[in-house]
Amino acid sequence: MSRYSRITGTGSYLPPRRLTNAELAAELASQGVETSDDWIVERTGIRARHFADPGVNSSDLGLEAARRALEAAGRQASEIDLIIVATSTPDMVFPSSAAILQHKLGVAGCPAFDVQAVCSGFVYALTVADAMIKTGTASRALVVGAEVFSRILDFKDRTTCVLFGDGAGAVVLEASDQPGILATDLHADGKHVGILCVPGHVSGGQVLGSPMLRMDGQAVFKLAVGVLEEAARAVLAKAGRTEADIDWLIPHQANIRIMQGTARKLKLPMDKVVVTVDQHGNTSAASIPLALDSAVRSGQIKKGDTLMLEGVGGGFTWGAVLLDF
Ligand code: ACO
Repeated sequence: MSRYSRITGTGSYLPPRRLTNAELAAELASQGVETSDDWIVERTGIRARHFADPGVNSSDLGLEAARRALEAAGRQASEIDLIIVATSTPDMVFPSSAAILQHKLGVAGCPAFDVQAVCSGFVYALTVADAMIKTGTASRALVVGAEVFSRILDFKDRTTCVLFGDGAGAVVLEASDQPGILATDLHADGKHVGILCVPGHVSGGQVLGSPMLRMDGQAVFKLAVGVLEEAARAVLAKAGRTEADIDWLIPHQANIRIMQGTARKLKLPMDKVVVTVDQHGNTSAASIPLALDSAVRSGQIKKGDTLMLEGVGGGFTWGAVLLDF
């Protein structure tokens, strides 16, 4: 009998501090940085984002999301035998946020590690968990995307600081004799490192280089739409399915125009695209599981639906996962 992996529960968490564009614009104006609700909505589709309070880390947001996913799956943390956290804003240089999350969940023993693929992190982490389940290395995985991007934003740079938010999403992925995950497709091309990065690093007790996010927005935009189409077509081909089989496209939530461009290329109407970027901003590795969980809890996504998850981000990295929910 074939062994597959299947999502059995989803969860997510947003820190309580919510800032609308107008509220963020007012805060930025007090520091001499000019932006507006109109500009942000028109160029990105973002209307609000959540920021974690000082001292709240990715593992704290991940913990709340994980608890909700476990509850939805009807599982205890002690039943989990693999923890993967996708994050680019870990609690510490090391150990991993996954190890810290494991301890906060009150369990020990199972493997726990982070995956760093920026905004593609959740798709990467889900692919790794799927492979480990299919090969019998794990049977019940907790896969989390958790970020505090507010910590790496330069609030003097209006071209980036209005785009991102904090949050976490999680799924429980379990071994099953029915798919589940149908196909996955991952890529990276490190020549694009400079268009989206946080170049600083820790050395000799200091941060060398800037610890703030910097981005060439137009270069990212152009690359993103092309690779998202390629990844979508690749997983459909691997699974022997077509665009018509997709019930819901859940793309990385960076910019509504990137999502509209991708949907257009796949000939999918926007009412088949899960959109949360308006309320969450870009939460990097957390954006896909946050969008997935909100669509599951709102009743949009139903058991048996075919979902296309797509990530793209710094590296450059990109990929897709096609699954039956
Ligand atoms: N408020 C007001 N004006 C602004 C702001 C702002 N927050 N930011 C930039 N501007 C100004 C610029 O200074 C520029 O003014 P100028 O014409 O006088 O020079 C003008 O707006 C246009 O700037 P552009 O950078 O050309 O604007 P563009 O239409 O390209 O939109 C954006 C910028 C939204 C970043 C866009 O390039 C984009 O969405 N790129 C994709 C990047 C992305 O989503 N990244 C997320 C992370 S990567 C990922 O997750 C895949």
